[in-house]
Amino acid sequence: MNISNASLYDIAPAFDFVLFGGTGDLAMRKLLPALYQHHYHGLLNENGRVLAVARSELSDEEYFALAETAVRSHVSPDCFSKSGWKDFCLRLRYIRCNVGDVNDYQALAEVLEANKESNRIYYLSTGPLLFAPICQNLAENKLVNRHSRLAVEKPLGRDLVSACEISDIIGSVFSEDQIFRIDHYLGKEPVQNLLALRFGNALFEPLWNRAHVRDVQITVAETLGVEGRGEFYDRTGALRDMVQNHLLQVLCIIAMEVPSHDTPDAVRDEKLKILRSLRPLQGDDINKNTVRGQYRSGAVGNEVVAAYVDEPGVDPRSHNETFVAIRANIDNWRWAGVPFYLRTGKRLQERVSEIVINFERLPHAIFEGESIMDSPNRLTIRLQPEEYIRLSIRAKQPGPGMRLRPVDLDLDLTKSVKERQHNAYERLILDLLGGSQTLFLRRDELEAAWSWVDPILNAWQASHKAPASYTSGTWGPSESSHLLFENGSRWREQE
Ligand code: BG6
Repeated sequence: MNISNASLYDIAPAFDFVLFGGTGDLAMRKLLPALYQHHYHGLLNENGRVLAVARSELSDEEYFALAETAVRSHVSPDCFSKSGWKDFCLRLRYIRCNVGDVNDYQALAEVLEANKESNRIYYLSTGPLLFAPICQNLAENKLVNRHSRLAVEKPLGRDLVSACEISDIIGSVFSEDQIFRIDHYLGKEPVQNLLALRFGNALFEPLWNRAHVRDVQITVAETLGVEGRGEFYDRTGALRDMVQNHLLQVLCIIAMEVPSHDTPDAVRDEKLKILRSLRPLQGDDINKNTVRGQYRSGAVGNEVVAAYVDEPGVDPRSHNETFVAIRANIDNWRWAGVPFYLRTGKRLQERVSEIVINFERLPHAIFEGESIMDSPNRLTIRLQPEEYIRLSIRAKQPGPGMRLRPVDLDLDLTKSVKERQHNAYERLILDLLGGSQTLFLRRDELEAAWSWVDPILNAWQASHKAPASYTSGTWGPSESSHLLFENGSRWREQE
């Protein structure tokens, strides 16, 4: 076991991590691997237990075997050892419970009783329909105390009204400072690096405004399709699935003012101001500033893939969007007039999540062949698959004359750090155990994001218009490029 990283964090206090949905996909793919890694690296308090709760009749041993297979395939081989796993199982227990039945919490209550003073984390890795019964049944069984926290994850509603309903229900049992709303994009290391870049350096702040920034592009492109989640996705669509949460959160981190402190509410207050400054899209603005797309069959890499409407679980006549591009505006002094382009889609050409900040054009060109039409400087923050920050500048081409060419100042975030990087869930779980809410959404943020998204959803629904069709393996419908052409810009890959 390697505890060299432990000094970087305060080891989380004693805890009971109650994992509802303990046999589910998220638990197996992300949560148990993250907890195991922390255990392996000595980051968990020795008085910490992981209590997996689900409906199936399983013995501890049967559950350990299921979990071992999952963890083994989701952590890097150098972090997995038979002895490490056996050791982890000393803190792992399986508790069978029909969470909808208030009388079925006895076994859980008995186990929790033994560690009354530990922090109790209730992680609801279940569908949102179970949030209400679980919270109410925990309360009925007197299992919520001042040491308790609740972690919930999207979908947190499908519109403002349903999001408020969820918040009301969980808020009737847990106070806001006990609720941790997860957006896994905030756990990504490069997203946090963006905070460091902006607020830990003096260089960028003077340029970070409408006087120097021409436009901002946020892209989360996926090559995958709906991957067996057709039925869920067909009720959801890209705007709810990705924009309402991940893309708007990234936009907040780029656009927010400098918080006065690095404290949860100082940071979240500033994010909230951005969400509330987003110009509402209404009426014809929605047609002019949004593009919806749906993939048809095509080739992604070397693989021929089916059309969205032929995916299992999807209505063959579906008008659901698998691609969205939006031109957003932030109505405040810093950003007035600077378009923020948001784009996300499935079955696109490349898997890439990145933020591109195009700085202003030159006011006047003096060198041979130089155009004043393009922005000479661009900051790219690549979130995945690589992690880097790249500043493009123009430099002289070697040789005679004064011709310029673009060159990159590159900070490769994976090569330049020696410490093991935490993935998003690892990072968020540590914060959850430690009780730091900075990277978790507050109720008012969630509601402000839905308030901006709702009119778009309503207008799309009312129009009955089919989304523009795009071939799988491309960058989405051509209409998305027009959004930028109108302002004399292009998406990064079209440069
Ligand atoms: C999830 C969406 O929140 O994020 C998925 O529901 C999407 O549809 C996923 O594929 C993308 O996350 P990441 O971290 O792979 O970019």
